[in-house]
Amino acid sequence: MAQLHHLPLLILLFFSAATAASARGTDEAHVSAVVAENGLAFAKDVLIGEAVRSLTPLRLPGVEKAVRVPFLGGVSVAASNITLFHLDVGDNSTVYPGDSGLVVVASGITANISMNWSYRYDSWLFPIEIADSGTASILVQGMEVGITMVIKNSNGSLALSVSQCGCYVKDLVISFYGGASWFYQGFINAFEDHIKAAVEKAIPENIIEGAGKLDSFLQGLPRTVNLDDVAALNMTFVNDPQYGNSSIEFDINGLITSAVAKTTNLQKHPHLSLSCGGVSKMLLLSLDEDVFNSALDVYFKAGSMHWVVDKVPEQSLLNTASWKFIIPRLYWNYPNDDMLLNISMASAPMIRITSEKIGATINADMIIDVADGKETVPVACISVVVSASGTVETSDNKVYGRVGLDDFSLALKWSKIGNIHMSLIQRVIRVFLNTVCMPYLNSRLGNGLILPVVHGFTLQDVYILTSAKQLTLCSDVIRTNASSLASSALL
Ligand SMILES: *[C@@H]1O[C@H](CO)[C@@H](O)[C@H](O)[C@H]1NC(C)=O
Ligand SMILES: *[C@@H]1O[C@H](CO)[C@@H](O)[C@H](O)[C@H]1NC(C)=O
Ligand SMILES: *[C@@H]1O[C@H](CO)[C@@H](O)[C@H](O)[C@H]1NC(C)=O
Ligand SMILES: *[C@@H]1O[C@H](CO)[C@@H](O)[C@H](O)[C@H]1NC(C)=O
Ligand SMILES: *[C@@H]1O[C@H](CO)[C@@H](O)[C@H](O)[C@H]1NC(C)=O
Ligand SMILES: *[C@@H]1O[C@H](CO)[C@@H](O)[C@H](O)[C@H]1NC(C)=O
Ligand SMILES: *[C@@H]1O[C@H](CO)[C@@H](O)[C@H](O)[C@H]1NC(C)=O
Ligand SMILES: *[C@@H]1O[C@H](CO)[C@@H](O)[C@H](O)[C@H]1NC(C)=O
Ligand SMILES: *[C@@H]1O[C@H](CO)[C@@H](O)[C@H](O)[C@H]1NC(C)=O
Repeated sequence: MAQLHHLPLLILLFFSAATAASARGTDEAHVSAVVAENGLAFAKDVLIGEAVRSLTPLRLPGVEKAVRVPFLGGVSVAASNITLFHLDVGDNSTVYPGDSGLVVVASGITANISMNWSYRYDSWLFPIEIADSGTASILVQGMEVGITMVIKNSNGSLALSVSQCGCYVKDLVISFYGGASWFYQGFINAFEDHIKAAVEKAIPENIIEGAGKLDSFLQGLPRTVNLDDVAALNMTFVNDPQYGNSSIEFDINGLITSAVAKTTNLQKHPHLSLSCGGVSKMLLLSLDEDVFNSALDVYFKAGSMHWVVDKVPEQSLLNTASWKFIIPRLYWNYPNDDMLLNISMASAPMIRITSEKIGATINADMIIDVADGKETVPVACISVVVSASGTVETSDNKVYGRVGLDDFSLALKWSKIGNIHMSLIQRVIRVFLNTVCMPYLNSRLGNGLILPVVHGFTLQDVYILTSAKQLTLCSDVIRTNASSLASSALL
């Protein structure tokens, strides 16, 4: 089974937006990701952390002004090298889907700014120029930043833009150091308005610039992600993101197609209703059964579903001698020869998901080969139709499957060794399915399916739910690596 290494679905966590919900088009979504309320809060915190990281240090323009000082007259004061080097957003921030987009409001922000100041004074009263300089630190208090982001579907990718961004500075505390700094507190007014205005202008400008980078990143995400040589995942976004009161849903085509050729389109399903069995999780990922069936179809058509069995726990069963009495002609024609079972799928296995279980139907042809000297001779072919049911478990960022045999039926397709009574081999086949086939399948499934997670994030407490035709993963997300998003590579 393919390992889904590259699915960058979780990247969605960062690109939350709400646009007027458009009618669902004729396009087909087979994977839906719903970022729930606490998922949005998490995304907001990550976004804010990234914003703070990329905003600081922020260089603000300098200023030079003439101020009037009683008795002295005009004095030229200047501030230069004004640098906002620390931002503290605290935890007073909110995120919610608004009318025209996703709104993030952070209030009570404090910031630290450093600057150099100087002043120059010369007049007819004094024959020499008087000048001084020093540094100042500025504490910005009660800053508020509001951003409205819009995410739209642009030709199958997500396009992000900032429709509104504002910054308001309530209070500045400027402390001068150096020179006769106590004296220059009087110049504070000259700088205060400038710094306030500079911050209120620079922060939104830089946020919009950062959003532009995020937008390029999003639009640059590949539409198809090759899982291996055979299969590719269609990552085309379908529809605009849709928002609820406190959640956003993204729909993705999500079907596995051949890496070389296209497959046919499969059926469309109604979209995910926001439900996680009453459990509150950050992220809900719903996968249609079509996603699994499209993958199985691709691997079937690529001819990779073959299996030759020459070892079984009871090895004597793979010798014609054991079949002397049940299939006499096999033994007469090939006495004491070793046998092989050449198993191939007659059609792509089918997965059926219901609220009770995940069921699979496997339709295989089992050719009995006899090793007659150097030659391998096919002597009979039995059609085996197996129904199995599966369970899904998770650990870390992986999903593991297990299957168990429910039932099976046998039919003789052709034979060169006379009629074989299926009822006589039923018991042996059951043992074979239980001791060889199911463990084999489980060892393949046991490699697990790597869940779509961006580098540096881990799914936590994944909870799996099945409903009609759908598998839903409900999960929390934790940040395991605080490296910058900008440099984060997808798994
Ligand atoms: C500007 O300020 C930074 C830190 O606040 C300081 O390291 C740097 O030397 C200053 N540059 C000038 C030209 O004063
Ligand atoms: C949090 O934000 C709200 C709304 O902007 C504001 O009224 C409140 O004073 C803030 N609380 C703190 C601790 O900053
Ligand atoms: C920012 O300024 C405040 C008040 O002056 C101070 O307590 C805090 O340590 C400063 N932060 C940094 C990172 O310098
Ligand atoms: C400007 O201020 C920084 C610290 O805020 C200081 O390191 C630097 O030397 C100052 N530059 C001048 C030219 O005074
Ligand atoms: C839309 O996407 C397709 C497939 O990636 C591409 O070939 C086409 O040029 C894109 N169209 C526009 C208008 O960007
Ligand atoms: C959204 O909020 C409105 C008003 O608060 C409420 O009537 C509606 O039922 C809510 N919808 C959902 C899906 O929670
Ligand atoms: C991927 O999905 C989109 C949207 O459903 C569809 O238009 C496109 O043909 C699909 N691509 C492939 C290779 O199947
Ligand atoms: C197994 O059977 C297939 C046809 O079903 C055949 O192409 C293949 O060569 C066979 N392999 C062996 C090892 O007998
Ligand atoms: C975090 O990611 C960076 C870059 O991808 C890597 O160099 C670093 O070792 C990682 N740290 C941890 C704790 O995983």
